[in-house]
Amino acid sequence: MKRIGVLTSGGDSPGMNAAIRAVVRKAIFHGLEVYGIYYGYAGLINGDIEKLELGSVGDIIHRGGTKLYTARCEEFKTIEGQKQGIEQLKKFGIEGLIVIGGDGSFRGAEKLVEHGYPTIGVPGTIDNDIPGTDYTIGFDTALNTIIDAIDKIRDTATSHERTYVIEVMGRDAGDLALWSGLADGAETIMVPEVDDDMEDIIKRLKRGHDRGKKHSIIVVAEGAGSGVDIGKEIQEKTELETRVTVLGHIQRGGSPTAQDRVLASRLGAKAVELLLEGEAGKMVGIEKNELVSHNIDEALSRQHALDEKMYKLSQELSI
Ligand code: F6P
Repeated sequence: MKRIGVLTSGGDSPGMNAAIRAVVRKAIFHGLEVYGIYYGYAGLINGDIEKLELGSVGDIIHRGGTKLYTARCEEFKTIEGQKQGIEQLKKFGIEGLIVIGGDGSFRGAEKLVEHGYPTIGVPGTIDNDIPGTDYTIGFDTALNTIIDAIDKIRDTATSHERTYVIEVMGRDAGDLALWSGLADGAETIMVPEVDDDMEDIIKRLKRGHDRGKKHSIIVVAEGAGSGVDIGKEIQEKTELETRVTVLGHIQRGGSPTAQDRVLASRLGAKAVELLLEGEAGKMVGIEKNELVSHNIDEALSRQHALDEKMYKLSQELSI
């Protein structure tokens, strides 16, 4: 293999730049040429492709977002789109591809593999919802952004003795809500994986208030329900003054934490090693702090599971 490509796809995550840098530098270290594909699979279809040099990835390790830009591409879900993408890769003489992204991006990578094209996936998403890795690139940074925000909200919640509902990202996965709720001592954590009983939540809030609690924090993953609706219901049924904050895309930006930069560097480099070893159709990951690889199709066939012990602990600590 002489020439490889790299793209970022789907929702961006802090640390993607560090992963791109690792791919480019590791590949050049081993004598490969690297081509950057802009705007994810959309750029692949359109041939928005450029050679990257050592200097192309200088001064990006500490930056959020992705230097290669990203997109969610419907066209690549079609066989036509996939074939066009492979044509472009062939036109540029690119013999293997590294895809940095979440589960949707991995599904695209799986399609390339089905067409016989060597592709390796690097898990990059704030959601931490890819089976086959304990952590995804960007999760730690997003988590710390949320914690910083909740700490600030907590100050004003105490001053006004209010109840706060904070909606965090996570359409299908509750990791951001669970980890931030646990780290911030939230009274209630609502995740998509668990069917919550609103009446029970209301009862517990009232009980806490009667016991003299000055404020309450409720962290809701967007997939568990609308923070605004939940806030309204709580205000109506508890008569506690309630405010809602939807953190939104602030969670996806910012300079990556040391944890994410190191993770991204390790995973990006590992992906290049796999291509050099002639592997295809694999994703890289980290399990118990060891770098691992799994077949993408096998990883995608599994459901990301919420850490039940951690969820139970969060409940025990918020009585
Ligand atoms: O997958 C990452 C993520 O940030 C999810 O948590 C969220 O549901 C989604 O992307 C939002 O996507 P978009 O930025 O396209 O609205």
